[in-house]
Amino acid sequence: MKILQISAECYPAAKSGGLGDVVGSLPKYLNQAGTDTSVIIPKYGLKWIKSKKWKVVHKGVIKLHQEYTPFTIELLQKEELGFPLYVANIPERFDRTGIYADQGGHYFQDGVERWLSFQLAVLDWLINDKDAIPDVLHCHDHHTGLIPFFMQNVEAYKSLAKIPTVYTIHNGQYHGAYSWEKLYLLPHFPEAKRGLLDWSNSINPLATGVKTAWRVTTVSEGYMEELRHQSVGLEPLFGHERFKCKGIINGIDNQVWDPATDPRITFHLKGKGISKYKTENKKEIAKQFNIDVKKPLFTFIGRLVYEKGADMIPDLVKRVQQNGLDANFFVLGTGEPYLHDMFRKMSKEMFNFFDTSLEYNETLAHQLYAGSDFLLMPSRVEPCGLNQMYSCRYGTIPVVRAVGGLKDTIPDLIEKPASGRGFRFYDFDLDEAFMAVYNAIELYKNKKELTAVRTRIMNTDFSWENSVKLYKEMYGELVEASEVGK
Ligand code: GLC
Repeated sequence: MKILQISAECYPAAKSGGLGDVVGSLPKYLNQAGTDTSVIIPKYGLKWIKSKKWKVVHKGVIKLHQEYTPFTIELLQKEELGFPLYVANIPERFDRTGIYADQGGHYFQDGVERWLSFQLAVLDWLINDKDAIPDVLHCHDHHTGLIPFFMQNVEAYKSLAKIPTVYTIHNGQYHGAYSWEKLYLLPHFPEAKRGLLDWSNSINPLATGVKTAWRVTTVSEGYMEELRHQSVGLEPLFGHERFKCKGIINGIDNQVWDPATDPRITFHLKGKGISKYKTENKKEIAKQFNIDVKKPLFTFIGRLVYEKGADMIPDLVKRVQQNGLDANFFVLGTGEPYLHDMFRKMSKEMFNFFDTSLEYNETLAHQLYAGSDFLLMPSRVEPCGLNQMYSCRYGTIPVVRAVGGLKDTIPDLIEKPASGRGFRFYDFDLDEAFMAVYNAIELYKNKKELTAVRTRIMNTDFSWENSVKLYKEMYGELVEASEVGK
């Protein structure tokens, strides 16, 4: 079974968040389970991509209104990722040092043209290269949401109309919507089909993907449910399309995330020596930052944005300090400038209580998973969340708001002492979050219980195997259905 995954991100070539991790690992595990899966992303001007050798497999031209842009499709020469990786090389739109924004954090202003070009380049390749045609085409997030619509409704792509499509939503907050004034950029399609592109008087790629793909998935069952009640205006659509929608929880790449072998951490886990492994890695963090190794370390890793609840952290840290509790906090990430200012100020004022590194740093992230005691995830929205799973694997106990995938993966230690994996709170509320942190600090004092919980979460199976079975089953059903239609 031949599958093509189309995405804006794929680790290690291009990653800004969880989408990159998933598209960089799911294909590898699908292939280990016997499929023939490849991935295509745009060719960004990023370090990893620049350092590799690429072989041109297709040359074409994309037309956006009157503008003709030549492009190539290129294949990574050395197959080192566990799947073939293709890139669409459209230099005018993607040869830049960021995925969505420049290094100063300014978003690129030509998003509409960028994602249209990428989608049209992929389709042009597929109609011209019979060997590239997959049995199932799997699109991810709004950047690729128009592909199923184009396949079904644009004359030039009609040869692809019978290929089953899957559309996966990793983030329902971003729709990629734009004004109908941009319609002239799209390839011609029958007037009667306009409704498939429309949501609230805009062209809405996320909504279009949901309407036109054969199947829609999102990255946890909990989040699938939430989308019907809270998806920035798309609630009725998810209700209407519910029969083709399914939640499939993400897995993590246990080969990349392995505390016994991870080259990014200093002290590896050896046998049963969990406490020593945690303490030694925490000391490493204390060498670089102002934290006190004797106190429990709570860490936040991720984008400093509203969705992730990063704005609650300053108040939470202050509340813990005011209550005279023994703890340290650390924040790693980038995002809202006002939060950068606040965290910088706090790290000066709260010596040995709060420190921060305001950057995207994959290596430091691994070290923090290994050396922290607790991971904070006060998310407002969390479709799946991978950090809580990385955290468990490295013996760091999650403190989470019970939403989306966090609700599905982290049962509460107070409610279920024998099977819990972390501390949960329900409302986005400072008092509730504080109670969860308080309970975590209490657990930290009981070394025996702490080790028991660490051992349990480290042994939890968050691997891709189970979810890969569900994806394979779904692909299989679609291929069967497409053959009936032939
Ligand atoms: C997005 C979501 C995150 C999810 C990831 C991978 O980044 O915000 O919750 O884990 O996609 O699906």
